[in-house]
Amino acid sequence: MKKFISIKNRIDNFKNKQIHVNGDKSLSIRFVLLSSLSKGKCVAENILKSEDVLSAINCIKKLGVNVNLKGTKCEVKGKGLNGFSIKKKMVLNAGNSGTTARLLFGILSNIKKEIKIAGDKSLSQRDMSRITKPLKKFGVKFFGNHKKLPITFKGTQKLKPIKYVENLGSAQCKSAIMFAALKTKHKTKLKCKPSRNHTEVMFKNVLKIPLKITKDKNFEKIEFSGIKKIRPFNYKIPGDISSAAFFMTLTILSNNSSLKIKNVNINPSRTGIIKVLKMMGAKIKLLNKKNYKGEQISDIFLKSQSNLKAINLNPKYNSSVIDEFLLIFLIASKCRGISTFTNLSELNKKESKRLDWGFKILDMMGVRTKKIKNNGIKIWGDPNLKLNKNFVIKDYLKDHRIFMLSVIIGLALGGNWKIYDPNCFYTSFPFFLRILKKLGASIK
Ligand code: S3P
Repeated sequence: MKKFISIKNRIDNFKNKQIHVNGDKSLSIRFVLLSSLSKGKCVAENILKSEDVLSAINCIKKLGVNVNLKGTKCEVKGKGLNGFSIKKKMVLNAGNSGTTARLLFGILSNIKKEIKIAGDKSLSQRDMSRITKPLKKFGVKFFGNHKKLPITFKGTQKLKPIKYVENLGSAQCKSAIMFAALKTKHKTKLKCKPSRNHTEVMFKNVLKIPLKITKDKNFEKIEFSGIKKIRPFNYKIPGDISSAAFFMTLTILSNNSSLKIKNVNINPSRTGIIKVLKMMGAKIKLLNKKNYKGEQISDIFLKSQSNLKAINLNPKYNSSVIDEFLLIFLIASKCRGISTFTNLSELNKKESKRLDWGFKILDMMGVRTKKIKNNGIKIWGDPNLKLNKNFVIKDYLKDHRIFMLSVIIGLALGGNWKIYDPNCFYTSFPFFLRILKKLGASIK
């Protein structure tokens, strides 16, 4: 097995190319978990076949659900809201996937048997108390440690609907609560800091649950009662904007290039990257806009751009760009002026400590940075920044987004890069290297 990949040449000069990125990860995992609860056969097209989604599929298979995966078509024969088969001492392994682990707690909250949820080294370091705390209020029992995986728990058929304030702006936390609330008899009332809203959109437009959603300046309120049955449904999964973001960044920072990324999910709760790039002065066109079951989809067209300007990002945008911050730091390093990003504590709670990694990589690149109050960063940009040193990226807990970021830096800005754990991009974006090669990248 290869230990690392090498990048020694910039890419540049890819013009009028067109690509498709893989299916959206958040929607793929939600499809898998919700279809397992339906009463009958559900079919998804263009499902993301990445390790995180395969972890979700393996977990529902272990719960007795029949799954048939042919190419990117996925058929799931759901068992109904109470139909899982639970073996004694069952362990479900979520691998690297925070979404799978956290949402599983929600869908298993009504199971009256002990289940253990486990994960890989990175996932076992992540905070689970944000899920176990609200689930305890529903009546779920946790045994021993309830902060980090592995965690053993036992649900109840008598789930109590709850009132809860979600303060982190975490869609995984909100969704775990909503999945548990599906199985209660009465109304759950949630007050959430805004975060991606795919669960609400699916509940409303696919499962036809009458949700009441109201918004004020800082919070969204969601109210709904549990349901008795989920009817079988079909779903076409659009491209993932978090994967597209790597190619958007590459195009903007490369010379003399242009790219169209087809059929990307541009749900407004996910398009912070487009808004931030526009604030920095990038010209981005959204073409062919469509609405599909409440999600918005379009092609994204953009070109190389040399005159970018620094920004001071209002933290209200943070949740809509949470998985793209490392790319934004990189772009800020090429902007004229000093950029600032604040309130980023959640970034250090991802697959690796991404805020710390941001500082580390920018420092290796010779970019001046400064910490703001322990959870913010100031970046001194330089439009003429070019790299020509040697760079080694390793020991990053196989964080797929650190791997892909490093590849993009080497291809866009130069330098001699050696990046370890070269398979970790399969976690979220299996076509990543294939598409780069199609655009002309030389990667060994
Ligand atoms: C996700 C939500 C985000 C994101 C993750 C996927 C989801 O996490 O970072 O990659 O599918 O709900 P948080 O909502 O916990 O911030």
